[in-house]
Amino acid sequence: MQSSAGTIGLRSSDSLTAASMLTCKVVAAEATIDLRHRVLRPHQERDDCYYPGDSDPQAIHLAAFANTSIVAVCTAYPEILADQDFLAPFRLRGMAVAPTHQKNGVGRLILNDLEARIWSSGGDFLWFNARTSAHGFYQKLGYEVTGDAFEIEPIGMHYVMFKRLVLSAGDQIQPSLLA
Ligand SMILES: CC(C)(COP(=O)(O)OP(=O)(O)OC[C@H]1O[C@@H](n2cnc3c(N)ncnc32)[C@H](O)[C@@H]1OP(=O)(O)O)[C@@H](O)C(=O)NCCC(=O)NCCS
Repeated sequence: MQSSAGTIGLRSSDSLTAASMLTCKVVAAEATIDLRHRVLRPHQERDDCYYPGDSDPQAIHLAAFANTSIVAVCTAYPEILADQDFLAPFRLRGMAVAPTHQKNGVGRLILNDLEARIWSSGGDFLWFNARTSAHGFYQKLGYEVTGDAFEIEPIGMHYVMFKRLVLSAGDQIQPSLLA
């Protein structure tokens, strides 16, 4: 399924209406930091919101824009997950939707777009530490939990979640989005 924003995998018509007003674009890592800070780590310093892989040449930083405002961000960069033998694994970091835009299909939109870009650049696997409060979101997008929940101080309980990346037959990506 394809929206005017050129994303794949949208299913809810309500979500499609809200999310199709947005445009996903590749941005510099710096553009993601404010929303990471505001949504994910408000009790930490802004400087704590940079990740070691942010400057990896293969890192993909995505932002969803409502006009000129960034309302969602996410990042992925190559990193292996122990005991997995995928050739080109990526790790998801900094998945954040502005509170004003949550539960409107925006998280689905930007993560589907990120998956397509990873797959298109040769990645075959995406994993991450998911907050237990958000793991239902990832399950809806086809991610699986592996192992038990564990604590990451000072944030809280997490699961490792993962998905093998494949595009299904009906999915299409606008070439312009992959430039
Ligand atoms: C978690 C988050 C990224 C999800 O993005 P979102 O835009 O709110 O989610 P969407 O509207 O695209 O939801 C897609 C589906 O997941 C469901 N969903 C969304 N958040 C959920 C949650 N926390 N738990 C369970 N299900 C959730 C939605 O109801 C929707 O279901 P549907 O397809 O049946 O309608 C976003 O709410 C957020 O940034 N939360 C705060 C920060 C956070 O926890 N980030 C993740 C860190 S691991």
